Amino acid sequence: MKELIDPFQRKIEYLRVSVTDKCNYRCGYCMPEQGVHPEGNHTEYLSFDELTRVIKAFTELGVKKVRLTGGEPLVRKGLADFAANLSALPGLVDIALSTNAHHLDKHAAALAPSVNRVNISIDSLNANKFNHITRGGDLVKVMAGIDAALAHGMKPVKLNMVVMKGTNDNEIEAMVDFGIQKGVEVRFIETMPIGPAGVSMMDQHYPADKILKRVREHVGSDLIPSSSRTHDGPARNYLIAGTDAKIGVISAVSQHFCETCNRVRLTARGFLALCLGQEDGVDLRAPLRAGVTDEELRQVIIDAIAKKPERHFFNENVHNIEFRQMVSLGG
Ligand code: 5AD
Ligand code: SF4
Repeated sequence: MKELIDPFQRKIEYLRVSVTDKCNYRCGYCMPEQGVHPEGNHTEYLSFDELTRVIKAFTELGVKKVRLTGGEPLVRKGLADFAANLSALPGLVDIALSTNAHHLDKHAAALAPSVNRVNISIDSLNANKFNHITRGGDLVKVMAGIDAALAHGMKPVKLNMVVMKGTNDNEIEAMVDFGIQKGVEVRFIETMPIGPAGVSMMDQHYPADKILKRVREHVGSDLIPSSSRTHDGPARNYLIAGTDAKIGVISAVSQHFCETCNRVRLTARGFLALCLGQEDGVDLRAPLRAGVTDEELRQVIIDAIAKKPERHFFNENVHNIEFRQMVSLGG
């Protein structure tokens, strides 16, 4: 079996696939108010067949896990059929989804047979504040989405909260309680300086260590580290002592985990992005549409991985990374 090993001896086993850069929400740290590429011609985007071909090539090179992201993946029609086709690929053991859950209620039944893990973004438990943060989001729909995912046995369901000082940091404790009540893990995410929207939110950055301190005080027990480097990526996970409940923090800025980075990202337009915080990448769309053979496609990917940067520089060089758009990169 072939493997993808980068120049820093990291094994690349995880591909994040953005199926669209469009989203029905407009979270301030991610999207400009007017959204992105409203005029985007649909031929700019890889078709599901093209995406499947790229993912197949990656699985032949040892990639075992794919996460479908966006934008908001569920705004692209046919996602569940696409996921079902992927689940037939030999070697692909894990198909995950990141969603704002607005449309999840409707699609959970169709997705559940192929998509096991689901990460749901939820930054507030207050309907008005939620609507404000997402510029139009509907908390009732999201709650229905969470319940549908659980009801259809998607496992694990994780809730991601981007913590913003002065906006929702007063809800950290409520979110911990909500996670315990639903039996799902909550992960607190530091704002990242990605894209103009992300950079503009850095004055609301709230460090993970403060979050952890507040969680510890709130639950009144110890947090026992329980991360697995291979499965949890940049998240630091903890078991709340004396319970089954888990919480996590993702602190790309106050700490970085580049040494163990096992992933690359494919954008909806077919650009293979090698690092969240660096521009390096390779276009796969042109070779795909020029009719590469499967073997040539694998070679393009192997050559790309040879250019994966060692690390990002969020904390040192914040303003140089405005060129990125999280919404295109799929988080
Ligand atoms: N900082 C941190 N997280 C972000 N996301 C998008 N933009 C940012 C940013 N600037 C992530 C969050 C959100 C998901 C959809 O993408 O995790 O929940
Ligand atoms: Fe949409 Fe997620 Fe970006 Fe919010 S953070 S605008 S839900 S893609």
